Amino acid sequence: MTAHKEQWASRAGLVLAMAGNAVGLGNFLRFPAQAAQNGGGAFLIPYLVAFVLMGIPLLWVEWAMGRYGGQFGHHSAPGILDRMGKSRFLKYIGVFGLFTNLTLAAYYCYIESWTLAYVWHSLKGTFKTTPPTEFFPAYLGQHAGSITSLPPEATFFFALTLALNVWVLSRGLAKGIELAAKIGMPLLILFGIILVVRGLSLGTGDPGVVESPLKGLNFVWNPDLSGLGDFNVWLAAAGQIFFTLSVGMGSIHCYASYVKKNHDVALNAASAGWMNEFVEVILGGSLLIPIATAYLGLAAVQSATSGGSGFSLGFLTLPTLFNNWGWFAPVAGAMWFGLLFFAGITSSLAMGQPIMSFLSDEFGTARSKGALLFGGATFVLGMWCVWLYPGGSFDEFDFWTGTFSLVLFALLEVIVFAWIFGMKKGWEEITRGADMKVPVIYRYIIPYVTPLFLAVVFFGALVQPQGGEWSAAVSGLFDGQGWPLSPGSVLGKLTHVGDAGGWHGPNGEVTSRMVKDLSRILLTLVFGACSVLVFVAFRRKERRAS
Ligand code: ALA
Repeated sequence: MTAHKEQWASRAGLVLAMAGNAVGLGNFLRFPAQAAQNGGGAFLIPYLVAFVLMGIPLLWVEWAMGRYGGQFGHHSAPGILDRMGKSRFLKYIGVFGLFTNLTLAAYYCYIESWTLAYVWHSLKGTFKTTPPTEFFPAYLGQHAGSITSLPPEATFFFALTLALNVWVLSRGLAKGIELAAKIGMPLLILFGIILVVRGLSLGTGDPGVVESPLKGLNFVWNPDLSGLGDFNVWLAAAGQIFFTLSVGMGSIHCYASYVKKNHDVALNAASAGWMNEFVEVILGGSLLIPIATAYLGLAAVQSATSGGSGFSLGFLTLPTLFNNWGWFAPVAGAMWFGLLFFAGITSSLAMGQPIMSFLSDEFGTARSKGALLFGGATFVLGMWCVWLYPGGSFDEFDFWTGTFSLVLFALLEVIVFAWIFGMKKGWEEITRGADMKVPVIYRYIIPYVTPLFLAVVFFGALVQPQGGEWSAAVSGLFDGQGWPLSPGSVLGKLTHVGDAGGWHGPNGEVTSRMVKDLSRILLTLVFGACSVLVFVAFRRKERRAS
């Protein structure tokens, strides 16, 4: 059976699959780290505003676009976008929906595979004898001064993780993805609740505890208005909303394209979105930071989250801290990494399905073959991240696919939806069959506020100044000193700000600059290849029609 004959088994299953798509590693690792780095409660208000003005509207737009495209037999972004207007160019905007899923899956599944390996090592008791600070670099094959690695165990777990993804995907929507969400989501919530209860019950009298975990909780949850005036906090909050909701990826379009014409999308989208927020803010906010605060103190936690990924706390610190929990330590480790694994796999499945649906719709590729093709392509791209991890390939993938292209695609798609497809038809699509009353204000937020919000975020990411000092940069510009681009901004990265060297070091060795440039070339080639596939697919279709 090919993907276009597929359907969801139940409404609850669809919402769980969509929530599983959203709930991912971002909820438990990225959110707490971003919050800690951006002032805790100061982060919360911009984050919630970004959810209401950008996240929720984008969820509705993507669900509505998906269901609309599905009526014409399209289940991936190129075909869906093509139906939004007359221009032949629209389908190429949809290429982002293939490109992002494929390249994101490559490094995302690599992180997912670490969690699987950590479940195994937690149960085996590895962290009782080997500190994770020693274990993790060795596992990744990192050696001082080297920019390449071919770590056998990490490669094995990566291949195993991909094999699991391929297997679930090959079982189809209802028996694969939906079933995985029905098992994975409740389990991850259960594991999360057990760990939260254990973590928050720690008291200063317990061995090793230096501070109350409630101090960490308070830091994350106590909203504070000081973040409102800081543009960098807004950028971080908007970036987190994108990543956590999986908007701007093309995966929501795909899942929603299997919804019937008159079935609700409004309440389903809102339910999946709010479920994600519950898991992120309530569970995600109550785990990493409070437990780490209890043993390390808040100041140390904040410095451990610099960079905003949460890897350091999640993979290096937490397994050591669990050792204070006696017999429960291996179980706690297996639960923490198990919940990360379930969160990860329900998201990576959503990255695979659009690729399979595209191959099925446009080339008639059978489901199992499509799953294998996705797995094979992800393995090859992922091995680039494994091999050149120390040289920075992983970070390049993360930035260009997990940050930049999400914002760009979201900006383009919301403009297409509101201004090309048109808000009259668009509103009808969002509200047809709706089991909730969509607040009418969104009829205006979607065409005006959301694109403006996105454009500001995009521009901010493009030219972010050094140290995030916007006002100093603006006055410097007027004083004729030019604009001090941050090395982390899009233009800063493209022009290699702060990275003066070349492709080879003094002894002819390959530098991380070469790795970064080659990673960008590789990503550009993948985008090009996806565009060519879309071109070929539509040419075939036109030929058949004529
Ligand atoms: N939305 C997924 C996450 O949060 C990608 O990890």
